[in-house]
Amino acid sequence: MAERTVTKEKMKIFLKAQQDEMSAVLMYKALADAVRDPADAQAFRQLSAEEGHHAAVFKKLTGKSVKAKKTLAALLPVMYKLIGRKKLYPIIAKYEYDAVKKYAPLAAEFSVLDSVKNDEKRHGDIVLGLLKNS
Ligand SMILES: [Fe+2]
Repeated sequence: MAERTVTKEKMKIFLKAQQDEMSAVLMYKALADAVRDPADAQAFRQLSAEEGHHAAVFKKLTGKSVKAKKTLAALLPVMYKLIGRKKLYPIIAKYEYDAVKKYAPLAAEFSVLDSVKNDEKRHGDIVLGLLKNS
């Protein structure tokens, strides 16, 4: 099935999504470096890599390069120390589940985003799952 044309309005949404994905790459990398639990660190490295794949999917749609925001990468390791993983991980999972909602209407139109959307759901489940093993 052919993908729809990227309208000006969609381009704006895709560029923001591309930036969000790139910011998530840095965020998960920073978290992987900050967390004490090796299993958590390994999971966050994997998530970081997958967000990088998502950014690449959006880059294909936009044909443009954007810069990541470093805010979350700076903030989350601090929050990890302040509130701990039991309070922080559900917040991260919510961020992932919100992305599912954000991508669902786009995936209906751009089928390439379907697996991206499903990944975000899985990411939320993975992050929450980390709390079940310890
Ligand atoms: Fe993502």
